[in-house]
Amino acid sequence: MQHNVLILDFGSQYTQLIARRVRELNIYCEIHPFNHLPDDISRFKAVILSGSPYSVRAEDAPHPDLSAIRGKMPLLGVCYGAQYLVHFGGGSVEASNTREYGRANLSYIIEDEPFFEGVPLGTQVWMSHSDTIKKLPDNARILASTSDVENAAYKIEGEPTYAIQFHPEVYHSTDGKKILENFLVNIAGVAQTWTPDNFVDMTVASLKEQLGNDKVVLALSGGVDSSVAAMLLHRAIGKNLHCIFVNNGLLRKNEFERVLERYEGMELNITGVDASARFLNALAGVDDPEQKRKIIGRTFIEVFDDEAHKIKDVKWLGQGTIYPDVIESISVNGPSATIKSHHNVGGLPDFMKLKVVEPLRMLFKDEVRRVGASMDMDAGLLGRHPFPGPGLAIRILGDITPEKVRILQEVDDIFINGLKSWGLYNKVWQAGAILLPVNSVGVMGDERTYEKCVALRAVESTDGMTADWVNLPYDFLQKTSNDIINKVKGVNRVVYDISSKPPATIEWE
Ligand code: XMP
Repeated sequence: MQHNVLILDFGSQYTQLIARRVRELNIYCEIHPFNHLPDDISRFKAVILSGSPYSVRAEDAPHPDLSAIRGKMPLLGVCYGAQYLVHFGGGSVEASNTREYGRANLSYIIEDEPFFEGVPLGTQVWMSHSDTIKKLPDNARILASTSDVENAAYKIEGEPTYAIQFHPEVYHSTDGKKILENFLVNIAGVAQTWTPDNFVDMTVASLKEQLGNDKVVLALSGGVDSSVAAMLLHRAIGKNLHCIFVNNGLLRKNEFERVLERYEGMELNITGVDASARFLNALAGVDDPEQKRKIIGRTFIEVFDDEAHKIKDVKWLGQGTIYPDVIESISVNGPSATIKSHHNVGGLPDFMKLKVVEPLRMLFKDEVRRVGASMDMDAGLLGRHPFPGPGLAIRILGDITPEKVRILQEVDDIFINGLKSWGLYNKVWQAGAILLPVNSVGVMGDERTYEKCVALRAVESTDGMTADWVNLPYDFLQKTSNDIINKVKGVNRVVYDISSKPPATIEWE
């Protein structure tokens, strides 16, 4: 596959967005940090230089050696990338004295230039820079300007090098995707073959080659990523894939049985391990949220290690890692502190010493869903809301008891089933119930009650980083509240959480 695009990252907050837009054009691309150029540049058919928080004039700014690329393959500089090509190409970049941030319009576009084919004069573009290109190199030609930025786009004569001062990847650049398409498809001749079906074919073939007759062990969570990873591995190696699905006792009501059935329906070679008691014992009396998370993480590793040992001669650990995690670990600024560093290999559980295979490591989250859909993954599994690894443990505020788990499972079940039957489930990004450490007074029949209060939470979001509460219909809330109070023993009050993130978070713990 030689129709790949290389995106050299200079640390801009928008670099991932460039990759998203390129992938939306059905073109495969990889992000590499500017200071680690890939060895085999010939794998790529075009290169894009990203933006950067640096000034190209600063001594510590990214100054990569582009001699293997420049003039040898189509190159597009974006923002910092455009300034970089000028600064080291005989032109000049200076601090700007006018504000060049936000929306602007192209007031001049050169005629008959394939780079701007189909892009109308006046089109809106997004600017975000403090330095400006004062003078282009002698061999450059202006392709477009705005009223404030004369050199908004240029081309270097005699080589396939283009540059734009604005950000085509940002939504506010109305024709940004078209401009990327013009460059990649019309000018660089990159084929638009990056489709979920092709990804499946290529990945299955390369997994077959990589794994041969080896055995792989994989932890399934019931979520989309691990399930799609399992499907790909299963297509490649069949019964040599051994899946483990652990019941930590903190799943939704009947979730363990239901998800296990689904996986068995997919013909996965799967072992369901009910370790509920082990988790709940380890959590007894613990009320600190971070402590709960640590105990659950540690217990999971112990249970998984025990099970993995039962599989003879296993060589690989399968993981559902996706591209944002990979980019994070190879970022320009070095691996983030949150990425685990495996210094003490001797002290790790045995399964962590296995070789790692990650079939989704080049996919964004929405691409994982598209790949799952192209393999006919069960729609119920594909459209599931995210669910936190520590499960109901972080939705039971305070200490956890089997009785509290039972109450919350019942409440959650009524809420989620209600969302489904009212056709609301797919309009909500994530929903769940929270058991509060509060008793309140109520009255049922002639009797005074003193029982638990639960909160319902439903949010809209795209990635969980920010979220807003969902305006659920009053009729639905009324029916759900009645059902919960009538059917779940121990609950006499229901509230709806109307906080957005930030400043609140999605989970209460
Ligand atoms: P917050 O509460 O931080 O949640 O707004 C954002 C998203 O992350 C999920 N979440 C977790 N997922 N382990 C997980 O696997 C955790 O400890 C955890 N804490 C929060 C949360 O459900 C939401 O989707």
